[in-house]
Amino acid sequence: MPHASGISAVALLKQGFAFSGTTSGPYLQTNLAVFTLDSVRRSSACRQAAVDRTPNTLYSEYSPRGVCMSVIIAIAGQKGGVGKTTTSVNLSASLVAMGQRVLMIDLDPQGSLTLSSGMEPDALHMTIYDCIKRDLSGAAVCVTTHYGADLLPANVDLALAEIELVNAVARERRLAAVIAPNRDDYDFIIIDCSPSLGMLTINAMAVCDGVIIPVACEYLALRAVDGFMRFVRKIQGGVNSRLRVIGLLPTMFDRRTKHADETLSELKTKYHPRVPVIEHVVYRSIRFAEAAEKGEPILTYAKALPGADAYRDLARDMIAWGKTRR
Ligand SMILES: Nc1ncnc2c1ncn2[C@@H]1O[C@H](COP(=O)(O)OP(=O)(O)OP(=O)(O)O)[C@@H](O)[C@H]1O
Ligand SMILES: [Mg+2]
Repeated sequence: MPHASGISAVALLKQGFAFSGTTSGPYLQTNLAVFTLDSVRRSSACRQAAVDRTPNTLYSEYSPRGVCMSVIIAIAGQKGGVGKTTTSVNLSASLVAMGQRVLMIDLDPQGSLTLSSGMEPDALHMTIYDCIKRDLSGAAVCVTTHYGADLLPANVDLALAEIELVNAVARERRLAAVIAPNRDDYDFIIIDCSPSLGMLTINAMAVCDGVIIPVACEYLALRAVDGFMRFVRKIQGGVNSRLRVIGLLPTMFDRRTKHADETLSELKTKYHPRVPVIEHVVYRSIRFAEAAEKGEPILTYAKALPGADAYRDLARDMIAWGKTRR
């Protein structure tokens, strides 16, 4: 996709920029969600806007404004492959199922959240990258997923933002500016971060009220927590004093192994209650990877799975937490 900067994502990759895709396979759109008339109209308007490359006015028109300010939660951590995207999808889907209006932001050039929501990142005409680069409102690229959450999608173009933001004015507030015009349209805004602690993650941390840190129940993931907590403290002391650590979310817990048990105990001993360890442990199951391949949340793909319960319970907690933050 050509951009004003003249640097293509492919050129960037050739220069050795670190990037790895995760999921492959068919990207299936399902019709499981029952849309309200409002969300259907908004959805088609958003898609058309993405195609036309024009700002989406309907998006604002049909969204109830000024009811309450949304709560922004980043799903972040320094370790890769620990369940950040899986948590973003399933927390968002659970919140929607509980009647909340949710906007998801894919802030990872891998586009995993976009993929996991049943969309092909490389087929998109416009993404969050265009908003950040051209100071557009998120409405210009917003799409509605089949499970009812809105999404600002991403693809590999976003890798350019990481470089371009370095010399930009107010570089840590660019995402905040993208969100601001429609912030009141949602109860929750969930941001899926990449494992890098670069400008994009700093932008997420600068705008969010709270961060959930997924930690896989294994030794190396546990070791990465300290580094990320140092990063959070720097953000709190600098760009966002409002930022709270909601908690460490244990993921990929394999009940058959002693190692997982020991890691979970160590996580609690070392951090809780100074940094809360969320009690809704997400068990390891191959069904998560299958759901991601189908572009579905676990709530619809395998709703009876204990992992689905964990995300529903987490969503209930976040609704309660959100009330304390508004
Ligand atoms: N509880 C789980 N049990 C088993 N597999 C899981 C679980 N949660 C996520 N997965 C799978 O593990 C892989 C990595 O998960 P995910 O993409 O959510 O991690 P991530 O932290 O977002 O990775 P990255 O750092 O690359 O963005 C995916 O294939 C996903 O389907
Ligand atoms: Mg991810």
